[in-house]
Amino acid sequence: DLYNFRLIKPDTKIYGIIGKPVGHSKSPLLFNASFKSVGLNAIYLHFLVDDVAKFFNTYSTPDFGGCSCTIPHKEAALKCMDDIDHIAKKIGAINNICHRPDGKLYAFNTDYIGAISAIEDGLRELNGKAPGTESPLAGKLLVVLGAGGAGKSLAYGGAQKGARVVVANRTFERAKELADKVGGKAMTLEEVEHFHPEEGMVLANTTSVGMKPKIDETPLPKHALKHYCLVFDAIYTPKDTRLLREAKETGAVIVYGTEMLIRQGFEQYKNFTGLPAPEELFRQLMEKHA
Ligand code: ATR
Repeated sequence: DLYNFRLIKPDTKIYGIIGKPVGHSKSPLLFNASFKSVGLNAIYLHFLVDDVAKFFNTYSTPDFGGCSCTIPHKEAALKCMDDIDHIAKKIGAINNICHRPDGKLYAFNTDYIGAISAIEDGLRELNGKAPGTESPLAGKLLVVLGAGGAGKSLAYGGAQKGARVVVANRTFERAKELADKVGGKAMTLEEVEHFHPEEGMVLANTTSVGMKPKIDETPLPKHALKHYCLVFDAIYTPKDTRLLREAKETGAVIVYGTEMLIRQGFEQYKNFTGLPAPEELFRQLMEKHA
């Protein structure tokens, strides 16, 4: 059972996901099970929202704990916030909003944290370094394919960790605009194919090339992958994209898009509750309901 309404008391904290459409979201399932696992007096609902400003004016009571934010509100919700995480502000999109006891709305972008932490752990695995030391992305050459919302998350997140960023995009102007903002280099997708100033680079695909139903497509041919030590794909349908399969065959560490999805959820849970997320439960539920 998704919602246990019998548990709602006057002081129950209300969370939810705002979007349109929103009914398909698995977040209520994940968060309600997580709250229950630690006995938190909280519930997480689907909120079908047309007008974000109206929503935040209505839900300003202390029992409202915050919400996740999905399409099409990730940008429009920005102007309703009291405080925005500085990287989220640069990315220009938020997906996690916390209503704190001071009555203010604090916004975050947990997508970039999820993606970057998954890549960092992949690199640590490769280097055999203990988790928690300096970012293994520092000084690395990070090639980001795509310059949309996810591309921005990877480019700003990588730059913040000290990576040297290259942004490559089908539409060069969008690559240039983003690369200039993160102090990186812009190129076309064709140029990336022959770009290998060094070995051991990191590749992050944020384009939709390879997504269902066009699963035979790939944004970068296999021969170009041998210069990368780690390849991340933000696509999670399918989980095993052609890009990741071919990267694995060339010997790179691969990081699945599902890992970004799961980890961004951990961050939201932490921001909402101040507690660490029940990671195993989250993973089990994601797998069961994929
Ligand atoms: P998201 O928010 O998920 O990043 P988006 O903003 O729609 O989604 O961005 C999609 C990205 O995939 C863009 O970088 C887009 O390139 P353009 O800026 O040239 O549109 C890229 N993309 C989509 N289809 C593509 C294709 N067939 N070949 C190459 N790039 C593609």
